[in-house]
Amino acid sequence: MDVNRNFHMKQGLGETSYAQNSSFQKEMIESVMDITLSSAVAACAAAETPAAVSIADLGCSSGRNTLSVVENIIRAVCGRSCGAMRQLPEFMVFLNDLPSNDFNTLFSLVPELVKRLKAEHDGGLLVSVAGIPGSFYGRLFPSSSLQLMTSFNGLNWLSQVPPGLFNEGKPVNKGKVYMSPASPPLVATRYFEQFQKDFSLFLTSRSQEVVGGGRIVISMIGRKRHGSHKKNELSVFEALGKSFSILVTQKLVEEEQVDSFNLPLYTPSMQELEDQVYREGSFTINYMKQDSQSFTTENPDPKMFSKSCRAATESLICHHFGEKIIEPLFETHTQVIHEKLEAREYIDLCQIVLVLCKSASR
Ligand SMILES: C[S@@+](CC[C@H](N)C(=O)[O-])C[C@H]1O[C@@H](n2cnc3c(N)ncnc32)[C@H](O)[C@@H]1O
Repeated sequence: MDVNRNFHMKQGLGETSYAQNSSFQKEMIESVMDITLSSAVAACAAAETPAAVSIADLGCSSGRNTLSVVENIIRAVCGRSCGAMRQLPEFMVFLNDLPSNDFNTLFSLVPELVKRLKAEHDGGLLVSVAGIPGSFYGRLFPSSSLQLMTSFNGLNWLSQVPPGLFNEGKPVNKGKVYMSPASPPLVATRYFEQFQKDFSLFLTSRSQEVVGGGRIVISMIGRKRHGSHKKNELSVFEALGKSFSILVTQKLVEEEQVDSFNLPLYTPSMQELEDQVYREGSFTINYMKQDSQSFTTENPDPKMFSKSCRAATESLICHHFGEKIIEPLFETHTQVIHEKLEAREYIDLCQIVLVLCKSASR
């Protein structure tokens, strides 16, 4: 099976969407709202509040999270203009996701948002919203056209499953569905190489699109340590691999099918992100932080973890295995997580927040 081709195309993501917003994602976005708003205000200040402010959310999905961010950003920038007795800028908002995203659902929420924002300024505010279908691993916008970009929970998805996970037709990552701590070292190397390639392309593309002094706010799931997971640290994706192997023993799925399935998912460490930003050279790092939360049997709701994992992976799994597997898989997944937490393993969720500022000289 050719795993080298573009994953999104191959997995049929032209017809299906990746994910709806999950409550985890909502919480993660709320936790970075303050730094997002101060970055928005700083980006506009750097440009001395231009007559038109252009912002983009990359990997926006189809739920309300993206619009809530946009709404808060517009309020913060307007608040600054009013405070400085300046005229309100006009806003151009670009919502980007893969072409398979449900833009219709998203657009149906836009008029309500625009109405609310206009009402706050007696109708004297212009907010235009447009969808930009396409991959953020490549150019999306004209040169030097945006003051602010945000990307929440999207950059964990690689552009494709890394090539080189098969050796003479045999799966290197047998029994695993992602870069697991139990995978052979070659798997981690291949995933890391793909991440480097993708993130570097993301940065180069954005560097041409963001104006000097403009900002990019990124939030994503990361790896706490530079290296692999601790032994008793459970990942929901590790539990997913285990669930697949249970389904193999129950003859609900073929072993070969599992062996040929890998998620195009990468959780970088802060160091890895920092290295790429320095290497690319167009941005300075204004802010970088990691926050982690541990979940044990003290706060046990295995269903919650299973639900968020399902939201993120369902369409990919359906495409490879068919729809019938979904219910038994995630029931098993909930059970596996429950048992692991009971056995004193814990789930560590590490969120990395990164604010980049485009150097004026580049
Ligand atoms: C987990 S969702 C996050 C949605 C939203 N930003 C939030 O935090 O609630 C990730 C989104 O990133 C999108 N995505 C993944 N790879 C992408 C790419 N290469 N270009 C654009 N969007 C992408 C997915 O389609 C999905 O909608």
